Amino acid sequence: MSVRGGNVSLIRAVDRISGIAPDTSLNSAAAPKRQALMTIRGLRKTFDDAVVYDDFGVDLPLGQFVSVFGPNGCGKSTLINMISGLMPMDAGEVLYDGQRISETRISYVFQNYREALFPWLRAIDNIYYPLKVMGVSRKEQRLRVEKLLTDFDVRIDLNVYPYTLSGGQQQTVSILRALVTEPEVLFLDEPFSALDYEMTLFMREQLQKIFMKTKTTMLLVSHDLEEAIQLADKVVMLTRRPTKVAEIVDVNLPWPRNLDVTTGEDFMALKRHCLDRFWQEVKR
Ligand SMILES: Nc1ncnc2c1ncn2[C@@H]1O[C@H](COP(=O)(O)OP(=O)(O)OP(=O)(O)O)[C@@H](O)[C@H]1O
Ligand SMILES: [Mg+2]
Repeated sequence: MSVRGGNVSLIRAVDRISGIAPDTSLNSAAAPKRQALMTIRGLRKTFDDAVVYDDFGVDLPLGQFVSVFGPNGCGKSTLINMISGLMPMDAGEVLYDGQRISETRISYVFQNYREALFPWLRAIDNIYYPLKVMGVSRKEQRLRVEKLLTDFDVRIDLNVYPYTLSGGQQQTVSILRALVTEPEVLFLDEPFSALDYEMTLFMREQLQKIFMKTKTTMLLVSHDLEEAIQLADKVVMLTRRPTKVAEIVDVNLPWPRNLDVTTGEDFMALKRHCLDRFWQEVKR
């Protein structure tokens, strides 16, 4: 589902969709390359008496795939709900390369695809929906959706209602709907956890393809360590509550992360390292 910011981001989104070149004058080729960051500072969140986050902070790279992994109930969903603007923070600030969330184009893929898709709309109309809401012209809508379906080689019959599709197909439609607005950041909260193993493996491949093609910043919450490592440039390991960053693990493995990679020695060593860190936290 696409979550829209204020007018500025709407204009930027429409400009991008209509193919109008953005003003890059501040970004000339001569300018030194710098890593754009998502910066989270002083984040606090409590539910009744439970302190989930207190003065939480982290810098995360934009343009990369970041996984968030941590103990049950440590606040993974709360974190991405807050930094995507879906849930208010008690205190704190989140900036995307200096911009507030309201000025950043984001999309969100929910775990429960059955409730996320509009059941009264055909799959294809679910994908068109965010563009209609944005007021994009019909011609542009068609161009955008056709390009998206071609880019991702979608082989599903989209002229049907969501309930007739398999779980994986429905989640693919959710992801396509999230991508059609060309988000700057895509949030995914355990998007494959309701799918069977075969479909999960397939969807991991699909998501990798999308990432490699678009280099959209992805922030994935996963309770599956293998998945968290396989898909990520960085794995953010969280502690128990009140939750802090236990460690940020760099995943310097080649893309695509195919079976050779995920069964290789380097992958296994990373998994072992993350598991050790995880158990330290859980037993603390
Ligand atoms: N709306 C809410 N009202 C009250 N407590 C909440 C609410 N949302 C989350 N919590 C509590 O905050 C803590 C963190 O919840 P959250 O769902 O973010 O954890 P999580 O790491 O995503 O958990 P899981 O591994 O089960 O997905 C939990 O103790 C949860 O019970
Ligand atoms: Mg959760």
